[in-house]
Amino acid sequence: MKISSFIELAKFGIKTVLLRKKDPILGTVILTDKCNLKCKHCSVNNITAVVYPYDQIKKEMRQLYDMGVRILFFCGGETFLWRDGQKTLKDLVTEAKEMGFLIVNVVTNGTYPIDLPEADLILLSLDGDREHHNAVRGDTYDTIMENIKNATSDNICFYMAVNQINKSAIRDVCLTARDTKNVRAVSFNFHTPYPDTRQLALSKEEKKECCDVIIQMMKENVPVFNLKSAFPYLINNSFPTPCHQCLVIENGKISVCGRCIDVEGLCDECGYFFVAEYTLLFRGNIKIINEMLRTYLKYI
Ligand SMILES: C[S@@+](CC[C@H](N)C(=O)[O-])C[C@H]1O[C@@H](n2cnc3c(N)ncnc32)[C@H](O)[C@@H]1O
Ligand code: SF4
Ligand code: SF4
Repeated sequence: MKISSFIELAKFGIKTVLLRKKDPILGTVILTDKCNLKCKHCSVNNITAVVYPYDQIKKEMRQLYDMGVRILFFCGGETFLWRDGQKTLKDLVTEAKEMGFLIVNVVTNGTYPIDLPEADLILLSLDGDREHHNAVRGDTYDTIMENIKNATSDNICFYMAVNQINKSAIRDVCLTARDTKNVRAVSFNFHTPYPDTRQLALSKEEKKECCDVIIQMMKENVPVFNLKSAFPYLINNSFPTPCHQCLVIENGKISVCGRCIDVEGLCDECGYFFVAEYTLLFRGNIKIINEMLRTYLKYI
């Protein structure tokens, strides 16, 4: 991260903590809900299967920027499916940077060739070793590994959603992150139990066991892009929700925190690590602030 970006984000953080402000800093643009996969834990794919046009996406990026967002994520559906005429995801990332976003990240299932050095991080979903990953995501593991090997940049961070199917595979994903070329780190979420996937939710005890494994992995020098000070809050679902500093825009509709905000009662069972990390950060939790500074400067 550039020093100037770091200073701008730090200033935002200080203002938010001291003045208890609720201004947004992190935004996500949903490019489409169309997806080539149908993962067992996912409730947001192929509901409309519309790929939103370039002009609309550009307008939404501008809208978030004007609201103060400086960390931008592109998400889906599958982001690498997005195109409009000659425009591709690469153009969107480049234009987001030109617009002034300080960090631009993309979330992908990794099943398409990866040529996106313009992104700060490519969050690539890997949900276990071959057996567990394929149990969640269909027969895609080998294709993904081949795409990672052939990627044109080393800005990949694994993104694992831990649930009842793959809870025993955290160690495998960690070691793969540590030992695979082009992969910088791994970041976790716990399953967030939408009404149609409640059976995949982890109990408090299971979350604790998962966090213990992640902490052990951190000790073994696995690059984990999460904050261990947030783990107790994630285990107990005791972090504040929603995250007021996070916005999502999909087809013109802006939601605070996540699209899931409309699902009754879901925030009480939220498994998204970024929500715990950001809400605790902006409440001025000193341990989180310290750890966040060290972690972000290391991986971005
Ligand atoms: C919805 S996907 C969209 C991007 C891309 N298709 C992918 O799979 O990475 C974004 C991330 O959300 C995760 N995810 C989906 N449903 C989830 C749930 N109920 N709880 C936690 N994470 C979930 C996926 O595993 C993926 O890492
Ligand atoms: S690849 Fe992503 S959007 Fe598609 S079904 Fe899986 S988690 Fe959902
Ligand atoms: S806190 Fe609520 S809105 Fe935010 S990600 Fe979690 S479930 Fe979704």
